[in-house]
Amino acid sequence: MKFKASLKALAFAGALAGMSSTASAQFENPFVTSYLNTTYSVSQSAAERADTLVLPVPEGAEVVLSDWSTNTREHVQRALAAADFTGRKGQQATILAPAGLNVDRLIVIGVGDPSDVSRADVETYGAALAATINRSSAEAITVDGRLISNPVYNGRILAALSHGVELRNYRFDRLMSAPSARPAQNYHWRVASRSQAQSEFAELQALAQGVFLARELTNLPGSDGYPAAFAEYARQALEPLGVEVTILGPEEVKALGMGALYGVSQGSQHKAHLLVAHYRGSDQRPIALVGKGNTFDTGGYNLKTDAASILRMQTDKAGGAAVVGAVKALAGQRATVNVVGVVPLSLNMISGEAYLPGDVVTTGSGLTIEVANTDAEGRLILADGLWYAREHFNPRAMADIATLTGAKVTAVGTAFSAIFSEHDTILRTLTEAGELTQERVWRLPLDPAFEGAIESRIADMKNTGAPGASAGAMLLQRFVGDTPWVHIDMAGNALVDGDSGIHPRGATGYGVRMLTEWVKRYPEE
Ligand code: BES
Ligand code: ZN
Ligand code: MN
Repeated sequence: MKFKASLKALAFAGALAGMSSTASAQFENPFVTSYLNTTYSVSQSAAERADTLVLPVPEGAEVVLSDWSTNTREHVQRALAAADFTGRKGQQATILAPAGLNVDRLIVIGVGDPSDVSRADVETYGAALAATINRSSAEAITVDGRLISNPVYNGRILAALSHGVELRNYRFDRLMSAPSARPAQNYHWRVASRSQAQSEFAELQALAQGVFLARELTNLPGSDGYPAAFAEYARQALEPLGVEVTILGPEEVKALGMGALYGVSQGSQHKAHLLVAHYRGSDQRPIALVGKGNTFDTGGYNLKTDAASILRMQTDKAGGAAVVGAVKALAGQRATVNVVGVVPLSLNMISGEAYLPGDVVTTGSGLTIEVANTDAEGRLILADGLWYAREHFNPRAMADIATLTGAKVTAVGTAFSAIFSEHDTILRTLTEAGELTQERVWRLPLDPAFEGAIESRIADMKNTGAPGASAGAMLLQRFVGDTPWVHIDMAGNALVDGDSGIHPRGATGYGVRMLTEWVKRYPEE
């Protein structure tokens, strides 16, 4: 049964990788995967047919198009006045059967000041639009940007709206025997300048593909998404984009001396793997992204005993998924960057062969770690992942991203991830990338004052200490040498229980958008 389910997952991975564009001839993008049977077209003219007209409206602008009759204009004005619609940021109103228009509904979206509204805000308006559309029978939707006259803002706003629509429309329903129907929807984006808008649309669509891949990998149940399956899924999604994928199996992990990575999975039938995904879009020294790929976290002999928290631990691979998703997005965008994703893959399990509390593991770097707690497994696999990235790729900067500590959730909650770094350029660029994408980050301390926290009686260090989130970062720092580096603790950011904004319930794909932007804005040497 287990094996069958995993084959199903892998077959889907193939379909995902090979899926071609459904966009119209007016606008080609080979990376579009649509989850609600949605097709897209982008042009400067009207679609052949529309049952729904959507107008993004600047604050205070009169809602009228040049081809409207007086009758239409008066009806729309009355209806919008009655709805208190002014075009203020985030407003949305629907007018059914608008007089004199050949559509079933007119939806207006307030965008405030088009020169000032943020991409992230517009994305949430797009998500809200998708939610409205999906509650209706709309099938042919035209989003007409004519009320936003500046062609630059026009293209940007429509592209960001479409990104929000796409992100919200993702579904993870392929394990259901009879998933609910996916109505065929066509969105036609009527832009002021197709040449202006085209690159924005293409970039954001490739970015969404990265987010979807991360969500898929994160959503995979533990028994389907074990290390080898995760690695194979990633390979099938990345290789068609020209990414060089290498997968090290357990024997290679052991032979390279990565005893910390090996140790975590030792108690599972699914032994450690290391996934390496290299996208070479420039000749710069690479940026390395290292993601925690613990495909399920039982806690090991320090077993997780709280039913609600162990139930979410298939998402303990979300950092690894974010790395794979970011590499996919960058490759899909044909970004001029050199980036290598490294994902140590493990399954933290109990058995007669499992590692024990108090064991000492030897890392690839030669440093030894006392396993004071088998549930602090993330830093063990990352220690070897960071060492491997540095040793084999000589990166100009490294970021690791991980669902690492409950302490992080206590400290900063789930609206931020916690970042730890002593490198000003990284802190600045990562904060900017986080604000742009609303995958926000907050700095917590990494400081010699905490060195004592991970001091061990019998080994070079131990894998627990207080304060908890900083102790994790302190351990990781011992494996990065002098490479500029940041640790991103995304515990609590991987999953949402209900639909909210651009996130349908389930895996969020957190990190893909931030990391993709970060890699592109990190300065060259
Ligand atoms: N994967 C967990 C951290 C986690 C907690 C992720 C909550 C998402 C939500 C990690 O491996 C873990 O178990 N951390 C322990 C570390 C402790 C034993 C030092 C924790 O935070 O309790
Ligand atoms: Zn974990
Ligand atoms: Mn754990």
